[in-house]
Amino acid sequence: MAKKVLVTGGCGFIGANFVRLILKMKEDWQVINLDKLTYAGNLENLKGVDGNPHYHYVRGDICNEKLLEKLFLEYNIDTVVHFAAESHVDRSITGPDEFVRTNVFGTLSLLNVAKKRWIEQEVNTSVNDCRFLHVSTDEVYGSLGESGYFTEATCYDPRSPYSASKASSDHLVRAYYHTYGLPVLVTNCSNNYGPYQFPEKLIPLVISNALAGKEIPVYGDGGNIRDWLYVEDHCEAIIQTLEKGRVGESYNIGGHNEKKNLEVVELICDLLDMRVGLLPGDEPRRSLVTFVTDRLGHDRRYAIDAAKIDKEFGWCPKMTFETGMEKTVDWYLDNREWMDSVIDGSYREYYETMYGNRKLESS
Ligand code: NAD
Ligand code: TYD
Repeated sequence: MAKKVLVTGGCGFIGANFVRLILKMKEDWQVINLDKLTYAGNLENLKGVDGNPHYHYVRGDICNEKLLEKLFLEYNIDTVVHFAAESHVDRSITGPDEFVRTNVFGTLSLLNVAKKRWIEQEVNTSVNDCRFLHVSTDEVYGSLGESGYFTEATCYDPRSPYSASKASSDHLVRAYYHTYGLPVLVTNCSNNYGPYQFPEKLIPLVISNALAGKEIPVYGDGGNIRDWLYVEDHCEAIIQTLEKGRVGESYNIGGHNEKKNLEVVELICDLLDMRVGLLPGDEPRRSLVTFVTDRLGHDRRYAIDAAKIDKEFGWCPKMTFETGMEKTVDWYLDNREWMDSVIDGSYREYYETMYGNRKLESS
């Protein structure tokens, strides 16, 4: 059945990749993208799809229930894929309030409006045909030691303001299922990488600095571990969860791909050396690596056990890390105008605040 999907945060990194993919895979679905265009949102991320008659963009805030009601009514929304969030851990450490406003109160507003339309009014659509898919993170589970994996049964133990706000929203989503019967699905995914990621996150930040011959800031000893997944694999997993997921369930999505931060940074340096040549003086880009003061409360290791989604839908990542990183580096090389446009005055101010006083520990 052709769906009418409200995508929130579709101008951000994962949201934009999702909108692109869903318009390609589901040609008869209507996609309504609601995005406030914070610093992380960018209309350029959807260049080329804006002319598609199945795509509609609305600028607005997920905390605005009046606007949400209008959109649900106007487009007869039967599916929500909720990406909109404040998403950067470092920003949550310096300013947690906005994280609570968007991630917690914004999610609550969406839940309230979906409940009103699908359950209290049940206009035109049976609630059984509706889905509210909440996109969350593995960071809600806390930090792992040397061994073990996060499963869907792992207790929540968020340790940053970002992950605490996401955990809070996950709890609300599940509460609306148990209390009111809202047809929800929750996905908890590991670190994504790929095209259109804002260069506050590790991989695009390293690409940007390494290309410019600037120091590459590595927090602590560079030994923290993340489980990296190519963004399009994540988006496919979300579409499969929408279609095959059991209502009320959570699904972990991961890359089976644990890497130390330093390994990731060095791979990017080597790829850039190969693509564009060494730095002046024939220096390899690895020489730009600069160890800086660690992030407060820095989670040591994340690793996802994605057996449930594999067992239930046969989903597993298609992209290898090596190929995914090559594609990603090439995308940033081919889209330097995009990068130049996002590294604007406010980004430079952000960079100075975040990194200007970060004491060098060694280099
Ligand atoms: P992002 O920061 O790149 O994009 C967020 C988008 O949400 C932006 O377009 C922004 O304008 C929009 N937005 C923010 N506040 C809004 C509001 N109040 N109303 C409407 N729009 C608003 O984030 P991302 O990396 O694409 O992450 C998307 C989602 O996926 C988030 O919920 C995040 O928690 C989750 N997630 C991200 C990762 C990752 O590695 N990036 C991993 C797992 C889960
Ligand atoms: P990030 O991309 O911010 O994602 P998350 O914190 O959600 O995992 O960071 C990935 C890892 O890289 C994390 O361990 C912090 C580290 N990191 C650096 O070492 N230097 C940096 O400049 C940034 C942004 C991150």
